[in-house]
Amino acid sequence: MRQKIVAGNWKMNNTLDEGLKLTSEIINMISDEVRGDVTVVLAPSFVHLTRVKSLIKDTKKVHLAAQNCSEHTSGAYTGEVSAPMLASVGVEYVIIGHSERREYFNETNEQLARKVDIALANDLIPIFCCGEALEVRENGLYHEFVCNQVKDSLFHLHDDQFSKVVIAYEPIWAIGTGKTASSDQAQEMHATLREYIGERYGTDIAEKTPILYGGSCKPDNAKELFACKDVDGGLIGGASLKSRDFTDIIKSF
Ligand code: G3P
Repeated sequence: MRQKIVAGNWKMNNTLDEGLKLTSEIINMISDEVRGDVTVVLAPSFVHLTRVKSLIKDTKKVHLAAQNCSEHTSGAYTGEVSAPMLASVGVEYVIIGHSERREYFNETNEQLARKVDIALANDLIPIFCCGEALEVRENGLYHEFVCNQVKDSLFHLHDDQFSKVVIAYEPIWAIGTGKTASSDQAQEMHATLREYIGERYGTDIAEKTPILYGGSCKPDNAKELFACKDVDGGLIGGASLKSRDFTDIIKSF
């Protein structure tokens, strides 16, 4: 049985008070209706982490993620936040390689491989993001492009390390656009990724790897997306900023 995860990527949104209010609303709305096998992850900004942790620490279903970490353990890297720092405040997951960081901060597959290594070395679970731009989708080269992102940043890992990784497929043309991938498009790419992972690590590890979909996942499309055989949940942006929408997505399993 694969882990099912719904993670909310708040991106650069919410003051501290707004973030704490949102967290409290989500905790109160996640009633017993939410299936026991669904893991809920909140990925606020760094400034929220310690206080959000204090709010969720007594719930079993809600876990804490950071949106990034440095490729370095410590040192003269002004403005950066390290994996040891994140682990020290109770962060369990870390988003690595989000397309916005690849675009705005020029993060390369090789740099992301180092971030994955340092996250695992500090017992953080990487949520590794991959996905193609519209022109790559339209020219039909998206399978190769996305699989190459995974190969370059993850396939150096030993079996036991890779077994800890969560993958998030986020077609860039669907992020923040309201243009969600169809369930057929999502399933096709997820199945391709799972087969590709199986060729490197074997079917057992591939079948156990959670592959989340991200890109305009909303309450009105989550059920169809999550019903796909190889879609194991979602990495949610905009809709994670509204407690009702986010919890409705969680209940879509
Ligand atoms: O990391 C998730 C995010 O990129 C998706 O954003 O707003 O399309 O749900 P959104």
